[in-house]
Amino acid sequence: MCAANDNELKALVRERFTRTAEVFGDYAIAHRVRDAELLARMVSAGPNDRAADLACGPGTLALRFARHVRWVCALDLTPAILARARSNAIKDGLANLVCALGDAQALPFGDGSLDIAVTSYSLHHISDPAKVLREMARVVRPGGRVGVLDIVVPEDPKIRELNHRIEYIRDDSHSRSLARSDFDRIFAAAGLRIVATEAHGHPRTFDHWMHVAGWKRTDREYMEARRLMESSMMDDGADFHPRFEPAEVVRPGEKPGIYIVNTGIYIASEKT
Ligand SMILES: C[S@@+](CC[C@H](N)C(=O)[O-])C[C@H]1O[C@@H](n2cnc3c(N)ncnc32)[C@H](O)[C@@H]1O
Repeated sequence: MCAANDNELKALVRERFTRTAEVFGDYAIAHRVRDAELLARMVSAGPNDRAADLACGPGTLALRFARHVRWVCALDLTPAILARARSNAIKDGLANLVCALGDAQALPFGDGSLDIAVTSYSLHHISDPAKVLREMARVVRPGGRVGVLDIVVPEDPKIRELNHRIEYIRDDSHSRSLARSDFDRIFAAAGLRIVATEAHGHPRTFDHWMHVAGWKRTDREYMEARRLMESSMMDDGADFHPRFEPAEVVRPGEKPGIYIVNTGIYIASEKT
């Protein structure tokens, strides 16, 4: 139920985020401004800082950080979505934002050359998230800050398993969502001291969640993910908190829509 190795996973990532560069990219830019601003506050982004947004997608964090810091590099593995970061930066007139193609597990920055490294909604696509944290810790100076925003799953293995099955049907470049204990472990192992955390639920419709991943109601993947989502309603067995939309918004002959909640964890840390 997962890519066999790092190269295979990276090929799946490139394929997926090339296909969804527009639909996912536009969604992320429009809906994650508050996320990016919150993370910028949590890592105390300031006018003298040099920063990097790793696995930046369409520039979700970098476009906001560019308004707070001296210089920011937006790095991603997928040329098509990185092109959107570049065009978004030009459109917004952000001359201090540069784009680079690269792997977050092997960063093209010198030791201690940055003040801040951040990443959002990326670690669950990466075969070795601990390596990303080690790289982020390596490239920031002592006292530098590392910030992560990602999906978080409960510790319960049964819930994690069903959550993963649904995520994987939706997106086969999904590697593994982390639980709070996993985040604590990989931050500590990288020599990063966690200074602040927040968790927020992001309610949305199941249809929109599938839409930004490129699926229509008639697709086999849509139907299978929906079946599993419905099966998890009674006991919230996949931690998506699913519930049907009120009946009055359902058109005759149509199945009712489902609301779900994606829980995001925001972590700010300091290199010790
Ligand atoms: C769900 S998107 C998140 C994009 C953006 N950070 C956001 O929050 O909207 C995941 C991104 O991670 C990138 N990605 C996945 N694996 C990567 C890797 N090993 N190195 C760099 N980027 C990677 C993908 O190309 C994609 O743009």
